Amino acid sequence: MDKKIKIATIGAAVQDVFLMGSALKAKRDVRTHDFVEQFPLGAKLELDKVVFSTGGGATNAAVTFSRYGFDTSFLGKIGDDPAGELIQKDLRSDGVDTSLLKCDIDGTTGYSTLLLSPRGERTVLVYRGVSQELEVEDFNHFAKLKADWLYISSLSGNFPLLESIIHYAKTHDIKLAINPGSGELKQAERMRKLLSDFSLVSVNKEEASQLVDGDSAEELTSNLVRHTETAVVTDGPNGSYASDGEKLYAAGMYEDAPVIDRTGAGDAFTSGFVAKVADGGSIPEALTYGSANSTSVVGKIGAKEGILMSDTKLKKMKIEETKLPQKEEVHA
Ligand SMILES: Nc1ncnc2c1ncn2[C@@H]1O[C@H](COP(=O)(O)OP(=O)(O)OP(=O)(O)O)[C@@H](O)[C@H]1O
Ligand SMILES: [Mg+2]
Repeated sequence: MDKKIKIATIGAAVQDVFLMGSALKAKRDVRTHDFVEQFPLGAKLELDKVVFSTGGGATNAAVTFSRYGFDTSFLGKIGDDPAGELIQKDLRSDGVDTSLLKCDIDGTTGYSTLLLSPRGERTVLVYRGVSQELEVEDFNHFAKLKADWLYISSLSGNFPLLESIIHYAKTHDIKLAINPGSGELKQAERMRKLLSDFSLVSVNKEEASQLVDGDSAEELTSNLVRHTETAVVTDGPNGSYASDGEKLYAAGMYEDAPVIDRTGAGDAFTSGFVAKVADGGSIPEALTYGSANSTSVVGKIGAKEGILMSDTKLKKMKIEETKLPQKEEVHA
């Protein structure tokens, strides 16, 4: 990198507490046949292990960017409490600038309790706290921000805030990437209208189907890219898809490694993909970096554990390319 790329991430910051033990083994519900966690009301259950870490998509992404070598800052809200302190400590120890982090002294930091099953799946009890209270005024306070890229994760459906960030980015020549949260996706029509303002939109398959039509991940990706410059759709262990409107790229699994905890898979993938693109990489290179980053993260407990360092040697992945029909070809 000649000049250090500057990137800021905006969104939630939470403390994550992982609970593990045989009492958390998922069982089949006899009626629905779905896997469920079940506890007798009033029971006291013994646990084998507790891991304290931090999460929130924007803080996880910030760590990817900082370890990649970008000049990274995080914009979000915490409370004046131990969870908020831990978030700051985690970000700072990874070299993320926290000077624009807003502390609400009367509020409580977001806090998630994750019940981790022995197979790596988890049930999450989320208290969003002040992480969901970022407001337009807070962004105005952040607006001295200088960056080449802005990476947005969940804004809890605060569209006025999203619109002011877009306006700021447009008027300051900043590229935008988004991994929208459930609050944004709930208002699909409103979100869809804003997609053209982004250089990159990344969602999982289920989220993609809230934004565009399509049955398969391939179809969803090619429909999503009609609204934005680069579209990414992830499909858990089935891999990922991306398109720049000309070609559709499909990547499988990076490697067949054990899954210990899938928390942060999506964040690691999307931020890894964005890091490569911001660094001038091609879509196949970005799919490889995103896949390697997420594979490394699902092999460890916690959303930030395992995030790659820039000097990690990557394996070459097999990536399939297909040409997408262009407008003229469609009407021909
Ligand atoms: N079980 C798994 N084994 C290996 N790789 C995985 C697994 N789950 C996810 N990945 C990798 O992570 C990427 C993103 O995962 P996924 O599609 O589940 O994202 P997500 O639903 O947004 O996740 P999150 O719940 O973290 O937001 C996948 O495309 C894949 O490369
Ligand atoms: Mg996700």
